[in-house]
Formats: sequence, C-alpha cells, structure tokens
Amino acid sequence: MNGRGLDPRARRIGWMLVAVAIAALYLASGPAALERAGGWLESERERLPWYATRLLGLLSWLAIAGSVIWGLLLSTGILDAIAHRAVSFTLHQDLSAYGLGLALVHAAILMIDRSVPYSPLELLVPFAGPYRPIWVGIGQVTLYLTIVVLGSFYVRKRIGQKRWRTLHYLSFLAFVGATVHGLMAGTDTAAPLIRWAYAIAGAIVAFLFVYRIVLAVAARAFPQATLPTTRTPRTVVPAQPAAPPPAGAPPAPPAS
Ligand code: HEM
Repeated sequence: MNGRGLDPRARRIGWMLVAVAIAALYLASGPAALERAGGWLESERERLPWYATRLLGLLSWLAIAGSVIWGLLLSTGILDAIAHRAVSFTLHQDLSAYGLGLALVHAAILMIDRSVPYSPLELLVPFAGPYRPIWVGIGQVTLYLTIVVLGSFYVRKRIGQKRWRTLHYLSFLAFVGATVHGLMAGTDTAAPLIRWAYAIAGAIVAFLFVYRIVLAVAARAFPQATLPTTRTPRTVVPAQPAAPPPAGAPPAPPAS
C-alpha cells in the first residue's frame, strides 16, 4: 500500500484496517486450515520420512550444483566483475558443505523410513541397499566424493596447490553422480519442474566446463595474452621508459 500522499493519521488507520482484515481472514480460515494440515500429517505420518528424504536429497543436489556452477564462474573469471573473489570462494566452499550436510541427513533418514528401510551397513556400503541399488549406489559414491572434495579445502596448504587441484576435479564427478543418482533413483523425476532443473543445471555446467578448458588451452597457446583465468592472471604491461623518481620519494620495491 502506498500511503505517501496521506497524512500520518490516515495512514495509521489504513494499516489498522489491513491488520483487522488479516486477523479476520486468519480467524475465519486459520482453524480449518490447521485442522486440515493436522489431518494430512496424521494420515501421512508413515510417509513423512520418505517426503523428508526426497526434499533433503533435492536440496543437497541444489547446493552441490550451485557450488560447482559458482566454482566454474569463479575459475573462468566471469564472477570477478560482480563479486569479490574471497567472498565468492567462501560461498563456493560453504555451498559444498551444505550439500554434504543435507546429503548425510537425506541418507540417514532412510533408516527410519518404513517404505524402504536401510540398515546402517547398507547405508555405508555402496550398491548394497534394497532400493534401486545401482542408482542409489551412485549416490553413495557421490557422498564419499563430496567428503573428499570438501576435506581437500581444509588441507589445501598441507597437500599443495597441485594435489588440491587434482582432488578438486572430483567435484565434476560428484555433480554428475548426484545428478544421475537424483534422476534415476528419485520419485520426483516424474515432475517436469525437477527434470528441467536437472537439464538446465547440466547444460550450464557443461557449457562452463568447456569454456574453462578453452581458456586453459588458449592460455597455454598464447602465454602473453590477457585471459580471464584464475590460475595465472597474465597482464601484458607495455614497456615504458622509467620516469625519474620525484625528489624525496622512497625507493621503488624490487620487481617480483
Ligand atoms: C551427495 C550425495 C547425494 C545427493 C546429492 C543426493 C540427491 C538425491 C536426489 C536429488 C534425489 C531425488 C529425490 C526425488 O526426486 O525424489 C535422491 C533420491 C534418493 N537418494 Fe540420494 N543423494 C545423495 C546421496 C545418497 C545416499 C548416500 C543415499 C543412501 C543410501 C541416498 C539414497 C537415496 C534414495 C533411496 C533416493 C530415492 C528417494 C525417492 O524415491 O525419491 N542418496 N537423492
């Protein structure tokens, strides 16, 4: 409501009328809505873990897909125009941590689910479960890959940049694994919205992945060119005659 033209008293009355209308609406339909929600919860109590595991699986996939896409935007330099690199890197790492946390709960809930009960051993051992073992097994392997990728963030200094990078490439495999697992094991794959989400995320990752490779190849072929890659930002500085330092200026730092 835009009350900019009204005087303060009229505006207050306006807001009071809105509050009264909301309260009346709530009193008229709130109890019935609550009763209905309670009834639904009661009738679906048995299936609540199943709904929860599906929702958490989808949220986990979303976080993992988000982390991979954000990481590719970061490494191709596309994000540099709009976000600070340190903030982007933290977000990239946090998203994969959320993905892992959600996936752990997504899997653990299967132990209390009655429709397809999993034992702790079946949860831990890939391809050993009772429900679509191949596709769920791919999800289990994905979980372990995500643990490795996330763990590598914390030991980055100790293992060195080269080994960290090699481990980090596993995140592409984790994305593919999570997507294939969700697509083939998931009930919600039947919903067009979910299928579109998998397809759009897959297309974005594929495009950025190819773009990243093209940048890396181009950087190797033209080492003097300015390319938007994170690894070695090369800037060609045209040679200029050194200007004499102004009187009293401190000595210039040594060139690195
Ligand atoms: C990072 C790891 C994982 C991710 C991102 C993930 C994600 C997903 C997604 C998106 C779905 C589809 C949900 C739906 O459409 O209804 C799903 C389904 C499923 N996941 Fe996972 N998952 C992961 C790991 C696991 C693990 C370790 C298990 C353990 C056994 C597991 C068991 C299942 C099962 C049984 C389903 C079928 C549920 C249904 O009928 O919808 N997942 N998962």
